[in-house]
Order: sequence, then structure tokens, then C-alpha cells
Amino acid sequence: MTKRTSAPVEGLNKEEARAELARLAGAIAEADRAYYEADAPKITDAEYDRLRARNAAIEARFPALVRADSPSRRVGAAPAGGFGKLRHREPMLSLDNVFSSEDFAEFLSRARRFLGRDPVAPLALVAEPKIDGLSISLTFEHGRFTAGATRGDGIEGEDVTANLKTLPALPQRLAGHAPALIEIRGEVFMSKEDFLALNEAQEKAGGKTFANPRNAAAGSLRQLDPAITASRRLSLFAYAMGACTEKIADAHWDYLERLRAWGFSVNPLSRRLAHDAEAASLQEEMTETRAGLDYDIDGVVYKIDDLALQHRLGFVGRAPRWAVAWKFPAEQAVTQLEDILIQVGRTGALTPVAQLKPVNVGGVLVSRATLHNEDEIARKDIRIGDWVQIQRAGDVIPQILGPVLARRPKGARKFAFPEACPVCGSHAVRETGEAVRRCTGGLTCPAQAVERLRHFASRPAFDIEGLGEKTIAEFYADGLIRGPADIFSLPAHEAAIAKREGWGETSARNLSRAIAARRNIPLARFILALGIRRIGEANAHLLARHYGSYRHFRHAMQEAVDPASEHRRTLESILGIGPAIAEELSAFFAEPRNLTTLDALEREITIEDEAVDRGTASPLSGKTIVFTGTLATMTRAEAKARAEALGAKVTDSVSRTTDLLVTGAEAGSKASKAAELGVATIDEQEWRRLAGL
Ligand code: IVH
Repeated sequence: MTKRTSAPVEGLNKEEARAELARLAGAIAEADRAYYEADAPKITDAEYDRLRARNAAIEARFPALVRADSPSRRVGAAPAGGFGKLRHREPMLSLDNVFSSEDFAEFLSRARRFLGRDPVAPLALVAEPKIDGLSISLTFEHGRFTAGATRGDGIEGEDVTANLKTLPALPQRLAGHAPALIEIRGEVFMSKEDFLALNEAQEKAGGKTFANPRNAAAGSLRQLDPAITASRRLSLFAYAMGACTEKIADAHWDYLERLRAWGFSVNPLSRRLAHDAEAASLQEEMTETRAGLDYDIDGVVYKIDDLALQHRLGFVGRAPRWAVAWKFPAEQAVTQLEDILIQVGRTGALTPVAQLKPVNVGGVLVSRATLHNEDEIARKDIRIGDWVQIQRAGDVIPQILGPVLARRPKGARKFAFPEACPVCGSHAVRETGEAVRRCTGGLTCPAQAVERLRHFASRPAFDIEGLGEKTIAEFYADGLIRGPADIFSLPAHEAAIAKREGWGETSARNLSRAIAARRNIPLARFILALGIRRIGEANAHLLARHYGSYRHFRHAMQEAVDPASEHRRTLESILGIGPAIAEELSAFFAEPRNLTTLDALEREITIEDEAVDRGTASPLSGKTIVFTGTLATMTRAEAKARAEALGAKVTDSVSRTTDLLVTGAEAGSKASKAAELGVATIDEQEWRRLAGL
């Protein structure tokens, strides 16, 4: 330790203080690394505490000198194996996209229809640039920043509180009056300039470079060492609200004003539009403005300004009915198509994948693109060797728009789409009316079987350590495992596995242990493991939370196979699910082979219940409701959406299973039928009370 350490803080001048803070930041960071990462402390706890205390004392005397990477901005320990989880008090949902003025007009009409508004009555909107970063939720309790999380699956995100504390743009305390609790949502991003500087520095230091500012922002926020985040120059715009214990404003615009007053940056290009008709010209203006901005935006978000209307409109699936992202046209480039390869997916679909000469499209290096299916290749007359126009829209996998015919080389050749699976050789067929050719090998096709098993054992699903793709492929090839249930018989073959090449007694025993440890599995992981199309982590969680137990889930899914069933209707109405996903689930449960697999798994494992949503505690939850007559204060669509959001089922006709009939003006035969069957009947006012309106 140098002499400076003991020099009294009171005696330091500004320059000495600055130097001392730099030294302390380095020394503390080094001690942290040794302690947390290498598990080999270099100094005693008492010495460490002295360093921190001295740092705090100097900062208290010279607040203007507090460094971005100051140890005082870091709290607690870096978690060892990753980030903890934080549950959002209100889900963090996403936005629907539109790409044209027609689609935008359709968004507005839908909202007006839902609200029962005149089709030409103006709707006041707020327009905000759509920042291309990563969304975060910030919890403030009594004005103090207490927790921050990434979006994660929308229900639960990663706890990045310590890292967020290092962001200069994040007020640690809200200025002025603050509610007891509020979740403030916004976007963390990196400016283009900071991104370029970071990549340059990384390159020099031989570190990892990033493909674009968004990846750089995400990579910088998700650092186990907050000191690294602190050194990365992240910015933040706030733009939305989650849970809140009190009413903040009547209009979104006023909410943005409050955010500003609390000390947040709100994007200065945000505008209040008194009339939705102003959106088109604003969109054009923003398209121009975009190029000159020092940060990436990929569209404009339009939000209905009136918060009471937002509340009434609510959500459908995963997106609000009161906001939409009008995206800018996708970025394009031209490059050469070097080859077309065929990929066989989990469901046997043969997908042609273009191998491209690498090209930069809007900041991302693209070397592969999907060609969708064989018709697409024929329709666009795409040939190997062609120069092709490609485009990338946001996160979407790049697409090939078509060949540049003027540049077609002499040797360009047509692609013959295989009629056999390139992996197992089985016949690959196209059902009539289907665009996709599928391998008929089913689980006998190693590509499909191995893909599904890999998914089953993967980290977010069963998380079986030591059972990666390579092992699965080998075990599959040798007949040790064919279906997922066979995984649980592997411990019975431990001795044989130990003798395999590259194994040994220890690794075989470890594998058996890893498998045994997963004989109990939470419902959400189990649902995810099934590998049903469109059922990723987020949807698996939604289903698990809704159904609570495996028994319930399986029963409901088998019933929902019938598209006219109540169970199907309920499934479609789960917030975040919707008809397309319900269809995939039904297709899975309609397949006898899948049910046999489930039976086999049930014999091997215990599937743990999930805590059911709090939403089910509403007085309407589980009730079957019928609406009749004309409601005065809301449209039928709104009433139905509200009832379903509260966990009720809405049906069209009154029967013995109906719990409640809600009557509007001129209720007809349904009211008399209800009276006959003794079904409880309430009027619109009572319905509003029950629905908490
Ligand atoms: S509002 C319920 N406003 O876009 C709607 N989102 O595609 C909450 N985003 O996940 C989002 N700028 O990460 C909103 N001004 C803005 C935004 C914005 C960027 C992101 C956000 C969201 C994604 C949806």
C-alpha cells in the first residue's frame, strides 16, 4: 500500500483526491475480482473495509469527483453463477408492429371498434421513437431506486440492480413527491459513438467486439462485474409504467412530464398528437431524422394518450391494444448466394438456408438467410451463384427478396429441392395445401429425434448436465435412447456408459446423478421440454401459471383438441397465448404418439405444481358468463375481454352451466331462459362493479 492511503482525507487537495479515487477504484476492483471471481482474496477483510471507507470519505468531500466506475456505485457481491431472478409486478409485454399506413389505420380502427367510438372521431396520440436497445423495469420504493430487471420472459427478468446503479442517467432518487411503489420502464441503449469507441478499445485489448449498439448495450448491462458496466457509457430513456400504488396522470404525455420532473431522460423527439391523422407526416419526418441521430431507432411507437382509454383497451396476446410500433422500412443489401443447404428441424420441416457471401446490413454481418420453402425459391427464381437482394427487419432473420437479374452470372444454376430427408433418407413429402416439405421419418429420423432430445435436456428445460447434443447423438445412434423417457433409464446402464470411449466411472456416475436430480421438475420446464412449436419459455410459464398442475394441464389440452370446446376457448383467452398458439398445442395433443410419450414420462418423473396466477382470485374467475342486449358503457368485445382478463369464460348461450347473465338494454329470450334455469342475472351497473370498473 502506498503512503497516500494514510494521508488524512481533510488534507487532500482536488488533484490529490482525484488521483486517490482512481487508485482506490482500481485497488477495490482488484480485490473484488480476487475475492469473487478467483475465490482467492489478496487482502484481509479489514483492509478491504478500510479502502471502501476511505473511498466513501473522499467522495463525501469531493462529490463532483465521484467516478463512473466508483466502488460506491456498486452494491453487494457479483452473483457467482449468473443473475438472480426478479418477478415483474406487472408483466412486461411487447408491441405489435406495422409497416404501412394501411396497417396503422387498421390498428386505429380496431381500437375505435373496441371502444365503440365513431370511426372518424380523432384519437389523441403520443409518438415516441422506438429505441433499439434493451428494455428494463426499474422499481422505486418511496422514491428510492430499489431494484431493476431485464425484460426476461416478460414475467420474470434478470436482477441487474447493481449494474443499473452505475448508470448516470438513472436517478437513484425521484425528485419531489413519489408514490410508495412504482415500476418505471424504459430502454437502456448505447450511442453509436460510444459503441464505435467501445469496439475499438475492445479490439485493441483483444476483447470481444459487438455486432451493433444494441448487442453492446445488452452485453454491457449483463455483466457480472458492475465495474465493467460502469465503464461502458450506457444511456437510458424512460417511456412506460408498470405497477404503481397511486394515480400519476390522466394522459401518457403528462406521465412523461412526471418522468422528466423525477429526473429521467425522456426522448426529446417525443410528440403529442392531438389527432391521429398527424401520424403519417410525423412518421415521414422521423424517417428523415433517424439518419442524423446518435442512437439507433427502428420505428416510432404510437400510444393512445388517454390513460383511461388505455386501461379499457387492455392487452391481447402479448401486446397492448392501445399502442403499436410503426417500423421503418427494413434495411437492405446485395450479396452473392454461394449455396443452399437444407436444415431438418425438430418437427421434420426441411428448410432451405441460403449461404451468403458475408455482407453488412444495417450494422449486422449477415452470412445466412432463410429461403422459407421450395416454392419461394422457384417463385423468385433464385439460383445458386446469383446476386441477391436481402433485407433485415429488426430482429427477424434476414430474408432474400430476389435475385438481381441484371447481374446473373453465366454459371448460375437452379436448385433441385430434395425429395428425401438429407439426414435419414426418408421420403420427404408435402401435404396438399402445405408449403413445407417434411421428413416422414418422425422420431426415426436422427435429425428430428436428436433435435427434440437435445431440446428436452437443454438448460431451460430439464437442464441435464452432461447430456449435450454430442452425447445425445451418440447415445441415439447406439440405441441407448430413442425417446425422452429413455433418458431416465440411462442410470441403469451406468456401467456400460462408463466403458464408452471418452467416459469413465466418474463421468458416468455424474450423469446418473444429474438425471436423478431432475426426476422432479417444475411444470413450466416440463411444458417447455415437450418441444411444441411456438411454446418457448415465456409461453410455457404462462401455461403453467394458468393451469397450475400437470393433471389439469393435460386434461385441458386434450379437451382443447376440439376447436369448439370450452377448454379451447379458455386456452385462447389466456393473456399471451391466443389462437395460433392454441392451435399448436392442440395439434400436439391430438397426436397419439405424443400421448404415449407423456404416459411414459409420467412413469419416470414427478411434475411439480406451479403457483396459480393471482388474477384467479377475482370474483369472476372460473365463472361462465353470458352477455345479452346492448351495453351502454362498452362494446361487447370490451366486456368479453374484461371478463376473460378476470379469469371468466364468456359463452354465447345460456345453459345449466352458465353462472351469470349480464343484461343490457333490450335483453330478449336469454333473460327468460336464465330465469327458467335459475341462472343469476345482473345488469350493466352491477357487472361494472364486479369487474372493478
Ligand atoms: S412501450 C406495453 N415505448 O420496443 C408496451 N417500447 O417491441 C411497452 N421500445 O419491449 C413498450 N422504445 O423494449 C415502448 N418508446 C417506446 C419504446 C419501446 C423502444 C421497445 C421495448 C419493447 C419493444 C416492443
